[in-house]
Amino acid sequence: MMDPKEAYDSWSAQYDKDHNRTRDMEAQVLRSTLAPLTFHRVLEIGCGTGKNTAWLVGSAQHITAIDLSEGMLDVARDKIRSARVCFRQADVLQPWDFVEGTYDLITFCLTLEHIEHLAPVLLAAATVLDARGHLYIGELHPFKQYSGSKARFVTENGTQVVRCHDHHVSDFLSAASAAGLELISLGEHFDNDDRETTPRILSLLFRKR
Ligand SMILES: C[S@@+](CC[C@H](N)C(=O)[O-])C[C@H]1O[C@@H](n2cnc3c(N)ncnc32)[C@H](O)[C@@H]1O
Repeated sequence: MMDPKEAYDSWSAQYDKDHNRTRDMEAQVLRSTLAPLTFHRVLEIGCGTGKNTAWLVGSAQHITAIDLSEGMLDVARDKIRSARVCFRQADVLQPWDFVEGTYDLITFCLTLEHIEHLAPVLLAAATVLDARGHLYIGELHPFKQYSGSKARFVTENGTQVVRCHDHHVSDFLSAASAAGLELISLGEHFDNDDRETTPRILSLLFRKR
């Protein structure tokens, strides 16, 4: 099991090129969930190679986009050259010295599976979220996690699995509620919209009370 920083530094060169239904479905879910909202200042936690930064920058005046992995950030910086985006290497588990004021939208996409304890991270996020601001989470659905799905990639040395932590739906809801966030919508998203299969993506949209 690889440590996330080492894993994503190694995965970064091929992350955008690999076949990855989870990555692609989450991109669609974020866009459809956030399209009706107005937002100006965004904090993107675990921006990776900028899959969602590229869409968010179309609406936002400023984005602070942080990631643990310099490799992932290098790809994102190459793709997105906008003065409205500030990419920063940072670990969300360390003090939040990367924040630039407050935000009206905070996103976590396929990142919280690498964080063992949700409560302190969601509390830190709520602290820098404006009143009535939104917090979006798009994650591999817990049912997929229960069946053994984990972030993984293939190299010439074989399949590399990234260290992940299972979170139940109730874990997200209780950590968010304790941070003063109210649930606006919960979505379960299926391959080919086939509701007889295991949902792939769980989306949660909260608003600060
Ligand atoms: C599966 S990738 C998702 C990237 C992007 N959000 C996307 O949806 O394509 C997970 C990202 O979370 C980042 N990450 C993992 N743990 C982190 C931490 N403690 N602090 C900041 N970023 C972290 C990784 O470096 C990686 O880029």
